[in-house]
Amino acid sequence: MGHPTRTRVGIVGAGPAGLLLARLLHLTGIDCVILERRDRTYVERRQRAGILEQSTVDALRSAGAADRLEREGTPHDGVELRFARRSLRLDFPSLTGGRRVWLYAQTELVKDLIALQQKEGPPLLFEARALAVEGNDGDRPLIRYAHAGREHTLVCDWVVGCDGYHGVTRHGMPEGVLRTYERGHPYSWFGILADAPPAYEELIYAHSERGFALASMRSAHVSRLYLQVPNGTDPEQWSDERVWNELDARLATRGGRRLHRGPITSKAVLPMRSSVTEPMAHGRIFLAGDAAHIVPPTGAKGLNLAAADAMVLGRAFAHLGATGSTELLDAYSDTCLRRVWRAEHFSNLMTSMLHLSPDQSEFDTRLQLSQLERLATSPHAAAELAANYAGLPVGGDAGGGGA
Ligand code: APR
Ligand code: PHB
Repeated sequence: MGHPTRTRVGIVGAGPAGLLLARLLHLTGIDCVILERRDRTYVERRQRAGILEQSTVDALRSAGAADRLEREGTPHDGVELRFARRSLRLDFPSLTGGRRVWLYAQTELVKDLIALQQKEGPPLLFEARALAVEGNDGDRPLIRYAHAGREHTLVCDWVVGCDGYHGVTRHGMPEGVLRTYERGHPYSWFGILADAPPAYEELIYAHSERGFALASMRSAHVSRLYLQVPNGTDPEQWSDERVWNELDARLATRGGRRLHRGPITSKAVLPMRSSVTEPMAHGRIFLAGDAAHIVPPTGAKGLNLAAADAMVLGRAFAHLGATGSTELLDAYSDTCLRRVWRAEHFSNLMTSMLHLSPDQSEFDTRLQLSQLERLATSPHAAAELAANYAGLPVGGDAGGGGA
């Protein structure tokens, strides 16, 4: 492909938000171009989360992008919470009127969307780094980008920044237009991938006096596991044996089984952040996915929020194409922010309920255990958590979360 110079919708970033949006635009015949600063191999190998809400799966189906997900993804009807050496299973279908989630790694989803895009378009340029988005206040915003050692300009009718938290689109907005609300967290996640069969069929979120742990999986042969660690932890300081011992200690129940151990193929420490930028649009420039909001990973919402933004925006552009009306585009930010804040609240609640803060008192721990106990004894409390975890349809009231 040469260097595109003109398009209707210019998309910065080929993560799930940019790729799904491009696919939805392509299906409605709206011309777009995606610019991605990394190469294809890098984008396809990045380790990310793996839980898809029903509404994300439905969106991928309607985008014709769910073939492999249907074959290789696994529906999960619940999760387990562990605390005080006990185990509590939350059954999503019975608590939410039939909703469930799917386990399918974000990396696999990204591969599927790129494969479709390579077959059918729209144009995607790898190793094309957006340098700046300009002309925010006029009718023709443009993206200046660098590719193959030269600078180019892509003139657009609309620009969508799907370029993550550090992206240039948000940072290039005029002073005073956007406001970012943020919260840091006094701990990080240490994530590992291991060539070992998962010991459990469902995800386990564990509260323990040693800190939080999560047991997830990627396949019948690969486990994905996380430990709460102090910020600034160096993964190289953790031998494989220490990782396994710590996971076993935190995930233990009375008489429970141990994890299956195997070679650890990846170790990484992931800092946590909560952040929301308002509004998610200014003039002809929109923000979607991590470019607009970051959630702590405890609620598994990051990918689902990115997909929900892409869906809302895809519909809004389709509406513009069909009717000439910008009504849905104008409503984009408000529509998305309702869901975003619900997910922020839920993710922060899950995080604070399950992690030990560095200055945690016995009192704090008793409060956490009381909250967990409440989930075990109150169907209403359990239903509220399940509704938030499994998510609501993306639609009229996109607020999400209330059963
Ligand atoms: N020019 C071009 N591409 C860029 C630029 C730039 N200046 N800056 C960033 N990018 C690209 C990144 O290389 C990355 O591929 O934007 C993409 C952003 O993708 P993601 O980080 O995957 O973000 P998003 O699509 O919003 O998906 C959110 O990713 O971080 C996880 O937990 C999060 O699951 C959630 C999902
Ligand atoms: C994962 O499988 O990587 C995963 C699952 C659930 C989470 C976070 C990450 O809440």
